Amino acid sequence: MTHCPDYSYLANVLLRRAGIVLAEKKTHMIETRLMPVVRRFGFRDIPSLLKELHYGHEALVQAVIEAMTTNDSAFFRDRKTFDEFRDIVLPALKEARSDTKQLKIWCTACAAGQEPYSIAMLLDDAKLADEGWSITLVATDINSQMIARAQEGVYSQFEVQRGLPIRRLVSNFTQEGANWRISDHLRRMVTFRTFNLLDSYGWLPDCDVVFCRNVLMYFDLKTRASVLERIGDILMPDGALLVGPAESMDSYILGYVLADSAPGLFYKSRPAPARRLSLVK
Ligand SMILES: C[S@@+](CC[C@H](N)C(=O)[O-])C[C@H]1O[C@@H](n2cnc3c(N)ncnc32)[C@H](O)[C@@H]1O
Repeated sequence: MTHCPDYSYLANVLLRRAGIVLAEKKTHMIETRLMPVVRRFGFRDIPSLLKELHYGHEALVQAVIEAMTTNDSAFFRDRKTFDEFRDIVLPALKEARSDTKQLKIWCTACAAGQEPYSIAMLLDDAKLADEGWSITLVATDINSQMIARAQEGVYSQFEVQRGLPIRRLVSNFTQEGANWRISDHLRRMVTFRTFNLLDSYGWLPDCDVVFCRNVLMYFDLKTRASVLERIGDILMPDGALLVGPAESMDSYILGYVLADSAPGLFYKSRPAPARRLSLVK
C-alpha cells in the first residue's frame, strides 16, 4: 500500500501565502500538480518536496503556490458579466467621466489573459480611444507563468473556441500554425503584472471598475472579506465591482450593494465606506 503524504503543511502554506483553501480530499489533483515541481527542483518524490517546503525557500514556495492554482479561464466567460459591463457599467462611466475622459480598470486574477483581452475587445468596440479617452487596463495574477502567457497572447485552437465568436477571432487574432496570436493593438491595451491579492494594493490606481471573478471561491472567508474590503478602498465611490456567478457575495460582506437585476455587478454602498466592511456572522 502506498503511503499518503501529509498535506497539512502544504495546506498551511497555501492558506497563509495565497489565501487558497486546499481541498484535502483531492489527493490525485494535488499529486498531478506537484509532480512538475518535483521534477523541476530535482526532488525524489512528493514527500521530499513537502519536507523541503518547511525551509521556506522562496523560489520553491512560489513554484508550489503557482502549481496549486486553478487557472481555468475562457474568453467572454460568463457572457452576462461582459454584457453588464458593456451595457450598464461603461455607459454610466462614460457619462460620469466625460470631463476627465479617463477610465481605470483592474482585472484581479486574469489567468492566461482571456478575461482582460475580452474587456479590451469591448473597450475597443466602444471606440473610446478615438474619442480621446485614456484607458488604463491593469491585469494581475499570482501565477507568473500565467502572466507570461498572457503577455505573449498566444492561444490554442481549443482556447479560442471557448467563448470567442468567430468574427472576433478573425478580426483580432492571427493564426500561427495551430495557435492564434492576439493583435498587437489589443495586447498594448493591457498592462500585466504578477501580483498576489494578499499583498498591498498601494501601487494600484483608484479604479473605476474591478473584475474579481472566479478567484474568491478558492479563498477562506477571512481572505475573501479582506480582499473585498481592500478592493473597496481603491474603488471610486461610483465604481463597479464585477464578481463571478459562483461567488455569491451577499452572505460575506457589507460595504457593497448588488445592482438591480444585474447578477455579479456590485457598487459600493453609500454612505458606509467599504473600509468598514466586516464579516457577517
Ligand atoms: C479560475 S482562474 C479565474 C480566471 C478569470 N478571472 C476567469 O474568471 O476566467 C483563478 C485565478 O486566480 C489566481 N489566483 C489564485 N490565488 C490568487 C491570489 N492570492 N492572488 C492573485 N491571484 C490568485 C490563479 O492563479 C488563477 O489564475
